[in-house]
Formats: sequence, structure tokens, C-alpha cells
Amino acid sequence: MTSPQHVPDLFHIAQMSEDFSPSVLGTKEHWDAVYSRELKTFEEDGDEGEIWFGEGSMTRVVRWMNAQKIPLTTSMVDIGTGNGMLLVELAKSGYSNLTGIDYCSDAIALARNICEKEGASQSVNLQVADFLGSFSPPEQYDIGLDKGTFDAVSLDPSGSEEKRRQYIQSLCRILKPNGRFIITSCNWTKDELLQQFGDEFELTDELPTPAFSFGGHSGHSVTALVFRKKS
Ligand SMILES: C[S@@+](CC[C@H](N)C(=O)[O-])C[C@H]1O[C@@H](n2cnc3c(N)ncnc32)[C@H](O)[C@@H]1O
Repeated sequence: MTSPQHVPDLFHIAQMSEDFSPSVLGTKEHWDAVYSRELKTFEEDGDEGEIWFGEGSMTRVVRWMNAQKIPLTTSMVDIGTGNGMLLVELAKSGYSNLTGIDYCSDAIALARNICEKEGASQSVNLQVADFLGSFSPPEQYDIGLDKGTFDAVSLDPSGSEEKRRQYIQSLCRILKPNGRFIITSCNWTKDELLQQFGDEFELTDELPTPAFSFGGHSGHSVTALVFRKKS
């Protein structure tokens, strides 16, 4: 079984391929196994599990919100929230209208436990839902957040292109007109994300991410962009 520490390596393998080869990372079975293990570990020793793309990936989103003076009651949904740590960080900064969804029930159970431990439960609503299927919120959100979920959807062995199309459709449906979408990705470059989302969204900001330089090549291992839904 793949250990949590090894999962990002698999992401980087996917990142290196020209068109993404289907991968277990695109399957619910994989994420069920990951979060079943992480939930058990949390119950045993309080370890919160993997923070995808590191602590910096959360602080850069929170910093952007603070710099933009986003009102604390702004409604936000974290798509594929996993352990919910991004929402915990937002709650600690005072944001109070936060929702996290994930199609793995153990991810949501883990996120609930962590929110409780961190005193964030009042600000965070968590639910099990498939973003490409059953998720149907009563109201549209001001902001959608994604850290690694579009990447995972893009690796779905049952048809990446169709899943990506469904993702963008769902995103348009659940965001208010002019709603923002903040995505952190390791599989897609800025230009590729613009290609994927550009018909329905316009780019408003690029968040600074660490650069790498190796073997004469340089670039960014992670891309973080802010889009605005075209009304
Ligand atoms: C790379 S993990 C990132 C988790 C979290 N966003 C973070 O940064 O730690 C991808 C997450 O997307 C979730 N996911 C994938 N496809 C989904 C779908 N169709 N609906 C809801 N959640 C999904 C997985 O269960 C997993 O929690």
C-alpha cells in the first residue's frame, strides 16, 4: 500500500508525463484507502496527516484573502477537502462561513475530528459529496477552493477529459456570478489551467509559489491561480 509520504511522488510522476496517464490517484478506492489509514492514525496518535503541497500552500491562500480584505463572512467551499486543514487555517484567521466536501466519508470524519480538536467546528460545515455528482448546495458560494482535487480528477482512469468537463460544469453551477476560484495544482501549468478554465473564468491573480531549477530547466513545482467566474 502506498504510504502518504509517497503519494506526492506519484503526483510528480504524473506531472512529468506529457498527457496524464490514468492513475490510481484518480480513483475513489485510492482516496478511501488513504483516508481510512489517516483517520486511524489520527485516532491513535493525533497526527493530522498529509498537508498537500506543504504548509505554504495554505498560508499563500490565507494571505491572499487577507490582502484582498475578503469579508470574514464570505461563503467558501473547499472542493475535495481531505483532512480539512485549509479550512482550519481559514477559520483560525476569522473566516466563519466555510464548507468542505469530499467523496470519502473517512476524509470527512477525519476533517470533523481535526476541526473539533482545533476549535474550528463552529465555522466549518463538512459533508460527504461527490463534486462531479451528488453535490447540490442550497445556495451558490462566493469562493471555491481546490488544492489537489482537480489534479486527482485529471488522473481518473475512467475518462479524464469527461471528468474535467464535469468538474468545470459543477464549478460553474455552485459559484455565484463573479465568484472566485482559487486552485493549487502540481499537474497543470498556468497556461494549461488557463486553457482548461478560460472559457468560463478569467484569471485575476497568480499566487507566488517556490521556483525550482534543475538540469538547465527552471519552473514552478506548484501553480496557484485565482480565477473569477465570468457572469
Ligand atoms: C490530493 S487530495 C487533496 C486533499 C485536500 N484538498 C488537501 O489539500 O489536503 C484530493 C482530494 O480530492 C478528493 N476528491 C477527488 N475526487 C473527488 C470528487 N469527485 N468529489 C469530492 N472529492 C473528491 C479526494 O478524496 C481527496 O481528498
